[in-house]
Amino acid sequence: MLQQVNGHSSGSVAQNLPLLREGLQEFLGGDTPLHQLDDLTKVNPVTLETVLRCLQARYMADKFYTNAGCTLVALNPFKPVPPLYTPELMREYHAASQPQKLKPHIFTVGEQSYRNVKSLIEPVNQSIVVSGESGAGKTWTSRCLMKFYAVVAASPASWESHKIAERIEQRILNSNPVMEAFGNACTLRNNNSSRFGKFIQLQMNSAQQMTGAAVQTYLLEKTRVACQATNERNFHIFYQICKGASEDERLQWHLPEGAVFSWLPNPEKTLEEDCFEVTREAMLHLGIDTPTQSNIFKVRRKVIPLNMQQR
Ligand SMILES: Nc1ncnc2c1ncn2[C@@H]1O[C@H](COP(=O)(O)OP(=O)(O)OP(=O)(O)O)[C@@H](O)[C@H]1O
Ligand SMILES: [Mg+2]
Repeated sequence: MLQQVNGHSSGSVAQNLPLLREGLQEFLGGDTPLHQLDDLTKVNPVTLETVLRCLQARYMADKFYTNAGCTLVALNPFKPVPPLYTPELMREYHAASQPQKLKPHIFTVGEQSYRNVKSLIEPVNQSIVVSGESGAGKTWTSRCLMKFYAVVAASPASWESHKIAERIEQRILNSNPVMEAFGNACTLRNNNSSRFGKFIQLQMNSAQQMTGAAVQTYLLEKTRVACQATNERNFHIFYQICKGASEDERLQWHLPEGAVFSWLPNPEKTLEEDCFEVTREAMLHLGIDTPTQSNIFKVRRKVIPLNMQQR
């Protein structure tokens, strides 16, 4: 619902409707094609319709990022767009003298924060807030930012320190598959929906090299373990274990092949997130060795598979 237009209250909107329509027509018939408006502050008059029309036109032209003053609006392309996220493009935004003059991109936001830390004599923490409805692309965007920093953060000169920095960066990136395996689930809105909130802190030293990361999580939807809405699923990790465990592990974890569990609905749904190997590999890189992993995976109450109960 339109509440305010150009600072006027909704009462005056009704009175100014013909004027607004005229403004809209003028805007739509303007010289600049809508998809070329890369900043929503250039939209005039600023109404829900003009803003949405502009974003729609950009979306149709495969332009998924649009500035709105100092905020960035990111639209979910719902398709892979590899050229938009290459390390080369990251370096281009990093090397640009004025990244804000390049096409709107999440890398501009990342680079701006990086420069803010760098340029200040007394470094000040920088925060990037990624918000949006379920499925909007928040997790994707956060991952993108982490990859960006791993690529562009300064690298130490010596070979040994360089290797350590690389390991830290790799560990930071590996935290994602682990967090997502244990905290994400398939919902009606998003096959990889985060069922928790998180605050990721990336730490840098005075030479702008990444030295570590800390993740604080909030409000994990624990009830999902025992109760899932129709057509939704439990946390990915359970399906990963059921689908990816080896024969030996099945024996060890009392997990018969083809077992069906009432708490694991819709196992037939195959998702790219069902990859147990990726989670295990990431856990290994994070320093969780195979025996510890095994202890984690076998922690469970005794559950009798549904299709075994009659025997
Ligand atoms: N920039 C992008 N490029 C390609 N695909 C994307 C992009 N952003 C999002 N997606 C796709 O949309 C899906 C949903 O995005 P994501 O999981 O990041 O949403 P979310 O905002 O974190 O949702 P939730 O609040 O449910 O966790 C991703 O799994 C991915 O397939
Ligand atoms: Mg998410």
